[in-house]
Amino acid sequence: MKILVTGGAGYIGSHMVARLGELGHEVVVYDNLSSGHEWAVLSGRLVVGDLADRPLLKTVLSAGNFDAVMHFAAFIVVDESVREPLKYYRNNFANALNLVEACHEAGVKKFIFSSTAAVYGMPESGQVTENSPFAAINPYGESKAMVEKMLKDFSSAVSDFNYVSLRYFNVAGADEQVRIGQARRDATHLITVSLRTALGKRQELNIFGTDYDTDDGTCIRDYIHIQDLIEAHVRALDHLADGGDSRVFNCGYGHGYSVKEVVAKVKKVTGVDFPVVETDRRAGDPPVLIADSSRLRSELGWEPKHDDLGFIIKTAWKWEKKYQKSLGDNAE
Ligand code: UFG
Repeated sequence: MKILVTGGAGYIGSHMVARLGELGHEVVVYDNLSSGHEWAVLSGRLVVGDLADRPLLKTVLSAGNFDAVMHFAAFIVVDESVREPLKYYRNNFANALNLVEACHEAGVKKFIFSSTAAVYGMPESGQVTENSPFAAINPYGESKAMVEKMLKDFSSAVSDFNYVSLRYFNVAGADEQVRIGQARRDATHLITVSLRTALGKRQELNIFGTDYDTDDGTCIRDYIHIQDLIEAHVRALDHLADGGDSRVFNCGYGHGYSVKEVVAKVKKVTGVDFPVVETDRRAGDPPVLIADSSRLRSELGWEPKHDDLGFIIKTAWKWEKKYQKSLGDNAE
């Protein structure tokens, strides 16, 4: 197939592009390099462009004769979205609208969308199915939910347009060959921040809240290895290529680890007993967020291969050391 991948130079998108290349697909990456890197594009051709640039988007899509579009490009920092909501609605929603319009004009009928568990907000039960209600509590989650609503309405109106929306839980880890990985200096995610603390790039790790109603008082999340997430996309693409209809899937393993468990595992894997400080809760953190991923397993035949926190952290650790070395002594 010929596939346009937006955000294909970023963390998750670049792993997708590498896998599509291995599978023999022809890839064009569309990325403005705002947080991605040219070196991370391991397959296909890179078009440096912005999704706000409608003429360019239209030209690329119309000339490309694409079988499918995979849309990864987005802003992802939750607290930034609270401070700068319009930036999130502009990039995550309005630019997705530009993309879907351009797909419509170019006759692209298959679309895969990177959604998020943040659409569920603070679910009461902790474990969520795809039928749990949209209840985002920040502009990031809301902007993604808006795109899902748009895709649902558009696919109802245009019967041969089909999409798969994948709601990611906590994606972590890196390529086993250590070619690519999380490469943002301003990373906020627990595993990356812990590894950078183990490397001495940060002085200490803050644990945001120890008074949650969980066994050890810290938040529980469903950490999924990036390669398993990528295989979910491969299944989704096969589903659409086989003429499948529009679907929504949770992407997680169905069980979780607390912040303290993750930190203990990072210390074990790295062999570094880095400083940890227990601080106040971070605004907007649900106590427990776990995927019910039975739909992904039963309908798309997805079977995770790396449901192992130690493996996730080991791959992230190998990558982090390489990445930090590439940046030089003081950089993060
Ligand atoms: N945490 C810390 N210290 C840190 C960083 C994180 O204690 O330095 C805690 C958080 O408070 C949270 C857990 O570790 O309890 C995980 O936090 P992350 O920032 O790694 O991830 P989130 O669960 O907040 O966010 C993830 C995705 C978002 C998505 C969200 C859905 O990264 O894109 O899940 O709720 F929106």
